[in-house]
Amino acid sequence: MSSVRQLSAQTPLATGTLRRVYAHPEREGLLIKVIRPEVIERRWGRGAAWYKRFRRARQFIAVQREVEEYLAAHARGGRADFVQRVHGFEETDLGLGFVTEALRDREGGIAPTLGQLIRAGRCDERVRAAFERFARDFEASDVVIGDFSAENIVLAWDAEQGERFVLVDGLGSATFIPLKAFCRAANRWSKRRQLARVRAQLPSGAGVEAKETPGRFVRRLAI
Ligand SMILES: Nc1ncnc2c1ncn2[C@@H]1O[C@H](COP(=O)(O)OP(=O)(O)OP(=O)(O)O)[C@@H](O)[C@H]1O
Ligand SMILES: [Mg+2]
Repeated sequence: MSSVRQLSAQTPLATGTLRRVYAHPEREGLLIKVIRPEVIERRWGRGAAWYKRFRRARQFIAVQREVEEYLAAHARGGRADFVQRVHGFEETDLGLGFVTEALRDREGGIAPTLGQLIRAGRCDERVRAAFERFARDFEASDVVIGDFSAENIVLAWDAEQGERFVLVDGLGSATFIPLKAFCRAANRWSKRRQLARVRAQLPSGAGVEAKETPGRFVRRLAI
């Protein structure tokens, strides 16, 4: 019996610029992310910059950063609720797979990204409010992120926690000197800028930071 998961006959649920995301063939609540082979060749193959070829984890560098930041969060006291849960690694017929929880929408489908919601014209007040809740918690936390985008947060729903945005990718420091990991103020400043960039993509009415209200002001003081 082989423990190598067979994914190549399956259609991926989603595709990013680096990875394809498959439903776990045996465990319903999980996903397996594998690196796209054409991207491996382009970015880490013979034509790639020398320093990229010297990185020992090569195509897994983003996963390595993500796992390191995930572990750092646990070392500090626990994963933030807005970060996807990691389940580990499994071998697949498409290479080493990174196993995470599968975030779902209210209907049980795969949770949409903020980018998909914007393109589908589904960015209503509820979505904006969920984004602002995410933004508040994200900014207040010590989580370090290298690649924040509207494609890397999904609007998930479950009976226990209701509707919320969850970060599914981009965790960890992407710079040679991990300034954001060492300096809390630099990390906050960077996250505020990244949030503002994504907020500006929301349809009009949400392009500027939500107005200050007494509730928001008190919450900000409490952070
Ligand atoms: N835990 C998850 N639950 C639900 N959907 C997810 C999850 N993780 C990823 N996805 C979906 O798969 C897509 C691609 O995943 P991911 O962002 O991890 O890949 P990537 O190729 O590294 O992305 P990027 O293009 O940002 O480098 C996401 O944009 C999202 O639509
Ligand atoms: Mg992504």
